[in-house]
Amino acid sequence: MEEEFDSTEHSGLFAEFYDILHAGNQDISGYLELADKYGPRVLELGSGTGRILLALAKENYQVTGIEISRDMLKICREKLAEENQEIKNNVTLIAGDIKEVSLENAFDLILAPCNLLNYFLEVSEIKQIFKRVEEHLAAEGVFIVDNSIPDIPFMVENNGKEEVFRFTNPKTGRLLVDRFTASYDFVNQLEYDQIELEEYQGDQLVRSAETRKTLTYFFPRELKLMLESSGLKIIEERGSLLEPRPITENSSEMVFICRV
Ligand SMILES: C[S@@+](CC[C@H](N)C(=O)[O-])C[C@H]1O[C@@H](n2cnc3c(N)ncnc32)[C@H](O)[C@@H]1O
Repeated sequence: MEEEFDSTEHSGLFAEFYDILHAGNQDISGYLELADKYGPRVLELGSGTGRILLALAKENYQVTGIEISRDMLKICREKLAEENQEIKNNVTLIAGDIKEVSLENAFDLILAPCNLLNYFLEVSEIKQIFKRVEEHLAAEGVFIVDNSIPDIPFMVENNGKEEVFRFTNPKTGRLLVDRFTASYDFVNQLEYDQIELEEYQGDQLVRSAETRKTLTYFFPRELKLMLESSGLKIIEERGSLLEPRPITENSSEMVFICRV
């Protein structure tokens, strides 16, 4: 059995199986609609394995992805290599840190999908990202942030408890077991994740990896405050990426559409 201990949640097995673990995400049709309204030149921050980026490129949007993880980029490049030349021509991939990367091009639409901002524990880092966004937005361009709203009752109840998710790898038929434990610092709004991934052939454990990661989480008011104090104007806020309903006490998601 090959084991990986020096792993992050976006490297090794975690990168290899990212698309399987996130196959249930419902956001792609929302991004296609928003690209239809605001595209065609799209910049995705933290583009990962190209889950969203490739869906946009297939619909003929010009998409640039910035990604820091070598392994996530590798998977994205492998997926892109299987596409036709027209789709390949729609994609630019950049290895780098979204806090640092500076491009010549301007974009009609910049995306911060899938709780991206939760990776940045310091407000100064978020401000740096928003500054880069402002530099890269075209005159009428929009920046879209999509984040979960923390479910405090759920977090309190599940604090430190292991949750187990099972997936079948459609390519190999192998079972993937994802053991996920989140613990919270409710004062500093920190989430400490411990994730173990196991791959089974029948009953036999063939590979495993584990990682620990600290994230933060935001509530709507503070995300709005950070956007607005960075000079971004919120032109629309929604409780769902898929439909324009308001953020209410029952919302699990917050989407902010901003202009400079
Ligand atoms: C939750 S994943 C989302 C990937 C992709 N956007 C999606 O929705 O499938 C977040 C991605 O952001 C990347 N990331 C984290 N910090 C980054 C940084 N400072 N610069 C660029 N990418 C970063 C991670 O490596 C990871 O691939």
